[in-house]
Amino acid sequence: MSNKVLRPRRSSLAVPGSSVKMLDKARGLKSDQLFMDLEDAVAPLAKADARKNIVQALNEGGYEDKIRAVRVNDWTTQWTYTDVIEIVEGAGANLDCIMLPKVQTADQIVALDLLLTQLERTNGLEVGRLGIEAQIENAMGLININAIAAASPRIESIIFGPADFMASINMKSLVVGEQPPGYDTGDAYHHILMSILMAARAYNKQAIDGPYLGIKDLEGFRRVAGRSAALGFDGKWALHPDQIELANEVFSPKQEDYDHAEMILDAYDWATSSAGGAKGAVMLGDEMIDEASRKMALVVSAKGRAAGMKRTQTFTPPEA
Ligand code: GLV
Ligand code: MG
Repeated sequence: MSNKVLRPRRSSLAVPGSSVKMLDKARGLKSDQLFMDLEDAVAPLAKADARKNIVQALNEGGYEDKIRAVRVNDWTTQWTYTDVIEIVEGAGANLDCIMLPKVQTADQIVALDLLLTQLERTNGLEVGRLGIEAQIENAMGLININAIAAASPRIESIIFGPADFMASINMKSLVVGEQPPGYDTGDAYHHILMSILMAARAYNKQAIDGPYLGIKDLEGFRRVAGRSAALGFDGKWALHPDQIELANEVFSPKQEDYDHAEMILDAYDWATSSAGGAKGAVMLGDEMIDEASRKMALVVSAKGRAAGMKRTQTFTPPEA
């Protein structure tokens, strides 16, 4: 299991590598991550130029406040190795991650890991610094997900690719992120989301929800993002600047939950200390808290702290 401390990825902005204008505009946007795309947002004939645009943009800089990733083409195409070599040789020092789409087996991660190691060595880059983000977009990827998550310490996130996934399993819907018409019970994506989340949590990776294509429907985005956030996902893609702020909000704790988590941690710390009577289960207001409550509070407090939140309540120990 990797012990890498991962930076927040509440919002991950997708930008086509073929658009110099959009690559440029992304500099001023407040997404936690930016990924420059060489895959499905770039036409086959535009891929060679897109590689050059991306290398130039990364080297010009201005993205350092974000996680900088490039999505290469998947291993079943003819483009993957050239994508990786050109991007890492050209701009490896100004890049944080390679995103690999349509991952189906652990071997595909190992292949990318080996290629990255050679590139880091020959280009004087720190070996192992470049991360991998794995997109799960078909049935084969999902049934191998646990092995994929464990395949390399470079893996930082496991990402749900709903559009390709829906197509690959013959789901009868064209509206990405929404329930397929006719399925009127439960959530058609629950099994996929939970499988991704379990693999991510088992191997200390981030779980990321993919795109919501209705870029004008911000309420729809909030609803769908809210579902994966409620399960415990770490973030979601943004296809448009308007989706960034919403994702940052939905994947940060609410202020009252953040305050509550910090209060639980303080109260529990105090109660378990000798000054507090070295107790294992105590009351905070009307609530009984114990070691499991502390673990739950740690999750919320870590997300809030990573998002730069400030607490608005302080804990005062009760009079002895
Ligand atoms: C993203 O790549 C998707 O297929 O949804
Ligand atoms: Mg896809």
